[in-house]
Amino acid sequence: MTKTVIVTGSSSGIGRDIARAFVARGDNVVVNGRDADKLAEVAAELGALAQVATFAGDIGSPATGSALVQAAVERFGGVDVLVNNAGIFGAKPFVDVTEADLDSYLGGNLKGTYFTTQAVVRQLQRQARGGSIVNIGTVLVNHALAGLPASAALISKGGVHALTTSLAAELAADRIRVNAVAPGIIRTPLFGDGDETASGRLALLNRIGEVSETTAAVLYLADAEFTTGHIFPVDGGFISGRAA
Ligand SMILES: NC(=O)c1ccc[n+]([C@@H]2O[C@H](COP(=O)([O-])OP(=O)(O)OC[C@H]3O[C@@H](n4cnc5c(N)ncnc54)[C@H](OP(=O)(O)O)[C@@H]3O)[C@@H](O)[C@H]2O)c1
Repeated sequence: MTKTVIVTGSSSGIGRDIARAFVARGDNVVVNGRDADKLAEVAAELGALAQVATFAGDIGSPATGSALVQAAVERFGGVDVLVNNAGIFGAKPFVDVTEADLDSYLGGNLKGTYFTTQAVVRQLQRQARGGSIVNIGTVLVNHALAGLPASAALISKGGVHALTTSLAAELAADRIRVNAVAPGIIRTPLFGDGDETASGRLALLNRIGEVSETTAAVLYLADAEFTTGHIFPVDGGFISGRAA
């Protein structure tokens, strides 16, 4: 059955590949990012314009979540899957973090995920046929690195992990499943010109990951009818052990 999928932050990196994969298997996708030009470029690249709707907006504003749902309903008749991927990340020592830094992470990564999910869940409850939400967290929430101080970014992602398990319980009666993928280090524009060899050494598999590998986990969780409340690491073994 064709599904309709909203993927936030799908103009780049992990989200862009997730949108590509859903379109490739015949699903309808609503793509999103803050930069309208970048979004239009990605939509054109996806090629199957009949399956793609775009909405440019900051998920930190609750109006964006409502607009994404409206786009899905108007273009495709409803929504089945939400992938909360949009997010920013940066390292900064704890004592240097400003209120503006904190507001930026909490506003986009956490509040954005919260209100986008709220808009989608209201629609899923109206439809009364269940649904699936896949959040993108990070393994660094539980396995932090001294050399990458990122408390501001990580408390926002910790909130996303907590939201995942909390909503899995609250929404199970509606047959709405809520899971998360927790990536390790994945090659995207966010990784930039990071040291691939040093970062790869953090994983048992001795390399960084590719977007196709996070996408595979998202597709699985979107479809896995007996899986909810799970936070699934895609990290090359980063959290499971040390290479030496
Ligand atoms: N790459 C990694 O190693 C890694 C590891 C762990 C977790 N993650 C998580 O994976 C997700 C995707 O990261 P990525 O590596 O693919 O980064 P990326 O290439 O920088 O892509 C981020 C996407 O999110 C959009 N975005 C950011 N903030 C937004 C907001 N407030 N509202 C709407 N769109 C927003 C960006 O577009 P605009 O800038 O145009 O808005 C872009 O499309 C993020 O949540 C990130 O924290 C990544």
